[in-house]
Formats: sequence, C-alpha cells, structure tokens
Amino acid sequence: MVDMRKIRVNASSEYDVLISRGAIDNIGAFAAETGLCGRACVISDSNVAPIYMERVKASLLKEGFSVTEYVFKAGETSKNAQTFIDILNFLAKAHLTRKDTLFALGGGVTGDLTGFCAATYMRGINFVQIPTSLLAAVDSSVGGKTAIDLEYGKNLAGAFYQPRLVVFDPDVLQTLPAEFFADGMAEVIKYAMIRGRGIDELILDNTEKNIEEIISRCIEIKSEIVCEDEFEGGIRRILNFGHTAGHAIEKAAEFTLSHGRCVAIGMYIVTKAWEKRGLCREGTCDILLKMLEKFSLPKSCDFSPTELAEGARADKKAEADAINLVVPLSLGECDVIKVGMNELLDIFTEGME
Ligand code: GLY
Repeated sequence: MVDMRKIRVNASSEYDVLISRGAIDNIGAFAAETGLCGRACVISDSNVAPIYMERVKASLLKEGFSVTEYVFKAGETSKNAQTFIDILNFLAKAHLTRKDTLFALGGGVTGDLTGFCAATYMRGINFVQIPTSLLAAVDSSVGGKTAIDLEYGKNLAGAFYQPRLVVFDPDVLQTLPAEFFADGMAEVIKYAMIRGRGIDELILDNTEKNIEEIISRCIEIKSEIVCEDEFEGGIRRILNFGHTAGHAIEKAAEFTLSHGRCVAIGMYIVTKAWEKRGLCREGTCDILLKMLEKFSLPKSCDFSPTELAEGARADKKAEADAINLVVPLSLGECDVIKVGMNELLDIFTEGME
C-alpha cells in the first residue's frame, strides 16, 4: 500500500479518516480492521456506481462480507423522503441488522442520504463514508451531519450521526469532471479563509501537486472544529462561512447554480463588505479573489441584495429576527456575529456594490 494519511476524529464516537491512493480497492480491509463484519450494503448513485461499485463490492467480498447494493438516480432531487423510505425498506427486506454496515459510495447527496438511513434504520446501524467528490471529501463526509431535503427546503430532516470510518482515495479525483472539482475547491477555499494553515499558498502555488496535503489540512481543520462543537452550538458555525448568502443564492436560482459556486459568491460578498467597513485586514478580499479566479469561481450573481436577504431570512439557521453571520477578520481568522435582518441587507448591499 502506498502512503496513507490518517486523521482521527474525536467526536462522541471516534473514528478515522483514511486518505490513500488506491483505497477504493481496499475498503473491505479497512472496514474489517475497524471491526466491521457481516452484511454490507453499498449505496451509490447512477453516476458513481458504474465507475466504482464493482471494485468496492469485490474488496468487501474478499474480506468475507456478504454484499448487497442499492443504486438511486443521481442528483439532489433524489435526496428526499421517498428515496429514504425505499432504502429503509430495501434494508429490511435484505434482513440487515444493527450489526451490519452501510457504505456510502459517492458525493454529498449519497453521504447525507445514506448517513440518515444509517441513523434511523433500527435506531442506528454502522456506516462508512467513501466520498468520491472533493466537496464530500473535505466537508460532508466528516462530522456526522446527515439529512434529506423536504418540500420546504434542503436538509430539513436529519440527524447528527457519526460514521465508523471515512475512506478517501485521491485517485477518484481523476474521474471527477472539472466543474465538480472547482465546486469542491470553493469549500477548500473556505477552510483557507476560516483557519488559514497555509492552504492559500498551497492552492496558489500548485493545487494539483499539493492536492493531498490541501485535503488533509482541510480535514484536520474540520475534525478539530467538530471535536470542539459536534452539535453546532458555537464554533462549528464558522463552517458556514459564505453559506448565508450562498444558500440564499442557491434557492433564488432554484438550485440551477452549484453549491460551491454559490458559496464562492457568498464568501466574496461578506469579505468585501467587511473589508470596506475596515473590520477585516486590507488585502484579504484580494487573496480570496485570486483563489476563486484560479478555478473560475464566480464572485457575483444576478440577484439583488433584497432577494438574498429575504432568502436568508427563510433559512433554517435563521432565528426570529436575526441570523448568525460568519465574518472574516483576516485570512485564516473569522468570527460569528449576530446580525438583524436590516443589517444583513446593508452588508449584502455593500458587498454587492
Ligand atoms: N458542512 C458544515 C458542517 O459540517 O458543519
């Protein structure tokens, strides 16, 4: 086996994130080393399954797992109550018990959906995250947020439920279309903005060459934050940098603009406004812009500040008349402040002028 990086997540239940080239063919061995055995159900979508399903199943069979698979139609629209129930019924029909394990093979949709099935099937079953997108690797596969979307909004039904193991094979990035890679880079840039750790330099120097180091640093940051505040009562909120405007843009665009692109715009708006107010170190916005431009990520959209402020008001994270907004202080440092809805509109207006 080539080099392997291991990051321990000390949440309420502890687990490792393994990063290793070729790991897709060794999922079974990693799972067995973690103490998992018995039945395995690999859950994936119609884009990812044709590429990796057979390899993952073969590695599980080799380690003595009995294996079933469930493949759903790719796309955010599948992350709904119907798919959730269909999967639970499938698991029940296949006689999976609490000792068995679900394997989420795919991007954020697959991880969130499978995680929520794992959290609820028989009141909790083991699950392993095998992220195949950059976004899922650095963000959604680590930290235990699981969810499905409801008619009224994204991720409205969910649970904090930690996986037993996360395995990321950097080779999967080779089959990831460029637009999805750029989308994941928006979340990577978010880590550079909130905690620094030299991620900006690695990105601007040579992203491709430095990609494993970049991903490791992002996961280390995520792990530290999750360990400190697993249930998002405080510091974990900084992971929402750029997401207040970002989610509002996603909704206004009726989900035709990708999550990463919306977060990119959201990060730019708040950083520009904060620098204009003299509350953020001069030059921070320029560094952000350089990183965004490297991946052709946008910094503006066609919606008005009023439309975005209205959208943010309806967000599940908004309280009665105020919202927690993550603001940058300098590259690698940020704060969470409570702002009223009128103030939020002012901030959006300043950041979009
Ligand atoms: N994706 C943000 C979080 O895990 O808290």
